[in-house]
Amino acid sequence: MKTTDNKKQTSTKQEAKKSGEVKAKSNAASGLTELFEDSLKDIYWAEKALTKALPTMAKNATSADLIEALNSHLTETEEHVIRLEQVFELIGKKATAKKCDAMEGLIEEGKGIIEETESGVVRDAGIIAANQKIEHYEIATYGTLRQFAETLGFEEAAALLEQTLDEEKGADKKLTEVAVNTINVEAAELE
Ligand SMILES: [Fe+2]
Ligand SMILES: [Fe+2]
Repeated sequence: MKTTDNKKQTSTKQEAKKSGEVKAKSNAASGLTELFEDSLKDIYWAEKALTKALPTMAKNATSADLIEALNSHLTETEEHVIRLEQVFELIGKKATAKKCDAMEGLIEEGKGIIEETESGVVRDAGIIAANQKIEHYEIATYGTLRQFAETLGFEEAAALLEQTLDEEKGADKKLTEVAVNTINVEAAELE
């Protein structure tokens, strides 16, 4: 009798532990979903802000390569906005933008550099630096978002986010190349 009671107790305990684990897992899933949606809203705001900031940066740049890099990334950025709208649709949510303080700060920093420098090589270098910070922020964000999407089982959304991630990496690489060329041009001019 005692043994049976003990067994009963143990199995009740195990069941309680099991249901606790399931609960914790579902809590984690809903927490992660919330975090995923929140980050999507954040980057949606950021991408929209960039479609306005990039033309200003291009207008203030002098290097033809830099202007081309900024303009071609503007076209990609417009596509990033559309892709995020597709991601929202895939997860069954309305596309909503939530102000991203980090991106606002990075864009402000870029504006500050333009105000503080004269048109030419130094301002170009500053514009490149500001944009590379922006790209790195986007690379970090899209890397995380893709991972969240995969974990939550949103395969199609993960593929779209990865596509954007690759373009952010490409833009960053291109800016590095422009920076190297700009520095070379400047060095040649100084000789
Ligand atoms: Fe982007
Ligand atoms: Fe970007």
